[in-house]
Amino acid sequence: MEFTTDIFKQFDKKWALLTAGTEKAFNTMTVSWGGMGTIWGMPVVTVYVRESRYTHGFMDDNEYFTLSFYPEQYRKELGVLGSKSGRDIDKMNASGLTAVKAGESMSFAEAEMTIVCRKVFVQRLAKENLPADIVSRFYGDSDWHDMYIGEVVDIIRK
Ligand SMILES: Cc1cc2nc3c(=O)[nH]c(=O)nc-3n(C[C@H](O)[C@H](O)[C@H](O)COP(=O)(O)O)c2cc1C
Repeated sequence: MEFTTDIFKQFDKKWALLTAGTEKAFNTMTVSWGGMGTIWGMPVVTVYVRESRYTHGFMDDNEYFTLSFYPEQYRKELGVLGSKSGRDIDKMNASGLTAVKAGESMSFAEAEMTIVCRKVFVQRLAKENLPADIVSRFYGDSDWHDMYIGEVVDIIRK
């Protein structure tokens, strides 16, 4: 497994799709917060998902998730997947992307890279552990982020 890129730009500037579930039932959403690093001697991906997201339930119910990255031409599709909820519309058809199996989870054929992760940790970003300015800026509505850490089990490239 090899990963060579500017990791700081991957989330913030490029965005990604976080997908959880299996062929039978899955959901995806756009993310721009996250990290890649090492813990417990493993390469890991960390993502932050607000409780209100439909994807949140799929993250909790499934052992695997994927994080996938796209060429610039799919920015519009990522915009749709990051503003509409799978609870309200059939996102898979609305997005125009082609769902494909990726390891034990799902991704999309248009991805230039998919990181397959095994969920190894989840925890709420608790109010008492955050400075007041961040709480008031991001959590006025109490829609907390849960932090998910996934062990990188595969990196699939086009
Ligand atoms: C560029 C961008 C980045 C986003 N990053 C995150 C994120 O890191 N965490 C999060 O919980 N929501 C994030 N969102 C919001 C979700 O993608 C959005 O609420 C989505 O509609 C949720 O879909 P779902 O309800 O089908 O899960 C982001 C949206 C955009 C457009």
